[in-house]
Amino acid sequence: MEEIIQERKKRVLSLIQPTSIPTLGNYLGALKNWQKMSKDYDCIFGVADLHALTVHVDPATLRRQTTEMLALLLSLGLDPQENIVFVQSHVHTHSELAWILNCYTQFGEASRMTQFKEKSRKHADNINVGLFDYPVLMAADILVYQSDFVPVGDDQKQHLELARNIADRFNGAHGQTFTVPEPFIGQKGARIMSLQDPLSKMSKSDVNPKASVSVLDTPDVIVKKFKSAVTDSEACVRYAEGKDGINNLMTIYSCCTGLDYDEIEKDFEGKGYGDFKAAVAEAVIEELRPLRENYQKIIADKAFITEAAAIGAERALRVSQKTLQKAQKKVGLLLK
Ligand code: TYM
Repeated sequence: MEEIIQERKKRVLSLIQPTSIPTLGNYLGALKNWQKMSKDYDCIFGVADLHALTVHVDPATLRRQTTEMLALLLSLGLDPQENIVFVQSHVHTHSELAWILNCYTQFGEASRMTQFKEKSRKHADNINVGLFDYPVLMAADILVYQSDFVPVGDDQKQHLELARNIADRFNGAHGQTFTVPEPFIGQKGARIMSLQDPLSKMSKSDVNPKASVSVLDTPDVIVKKFKSAVTDSEACVRYAEGKDGINNLMTIYSCCTGLDYDEIEKDFEGKGYGDFKAAVAEAVIEELRPLRENYQKIIADKAFITEAAAIGAERALRVSQKTLQKAQKKVGLLLK
């Protein structure tokens, strides 16, 4: 009789900070891939509330935003029974492993992280140790679950590389302990740019509200934001060097419709930017519609959100505890 060997499904993990409602950048760079992968992989997705503490925020606001982010993840169609959906601070193993990994991270390599340098410039009055340690906690998030793939946007590539280096170093010193994770970065959408300054990435913290689209923006707001998007004076829809505004809009349109750049160029031959911007807005509205509709139902059901968080935390703890104990034992901590 033929024996059926069931391979373990590859494990996927990613987190998002509850700093405010995600942007179209977060969605196309990360969340859309989470949604796709949730069907075929063993998935663990979380709200990184501990990371959010690295920038000082009003406590009541952080609590509300954490609930909203959890509701948003559930609105993507992530099922708390099928996938693990959780809040980072509910699972103590992350912080405990982070401490151990701190001792396997060199000050020099952590100092090279570009996001630390950028954020230090932006928050010059609050360059706290947590901000410096941010990528090590992120490495702990990933390694504590033996994650195979980490779907993120382009800006997290360097942090992923650090997580891989830490895992290699620890494995080298103590024998195989952690899976060395692979980044999963989509070919398109990994770096969605600001609608007002297409040379900088679309960000939740941009002070100009026209620069970014929130995934919960209403259709009329989305239309207005794309109408005022910065383009160029050529009036020709084509993907080319120096046409950063149009390139960004073409990327957004391509991610939402599945059309490649050649097809988009053909479809808009002889048409002006006004028509193109209206089409991009329409495609974005349709792409985000199910998410917005689901969110409105789920955010009204606090009991469902609380229960989902409790199930997620319990399952995440069960999975992560094994790796934490293994690491504690390897470094010589006396286990209880
Ligand atoms: P956060 O909340 O800043 O971003 C969440 C995800 O969105 C991606 N992203 C973008 N993608 C494309 N275009 C953009 N303009 C854009 N802006 C943001 C980010 O790359 C990210 O994937 N440090 C993480 C949170 C985290 C994490 C982890 C991720 C904590 N622990 C463990 C993976 C694994 C972050 O940047 O979140």
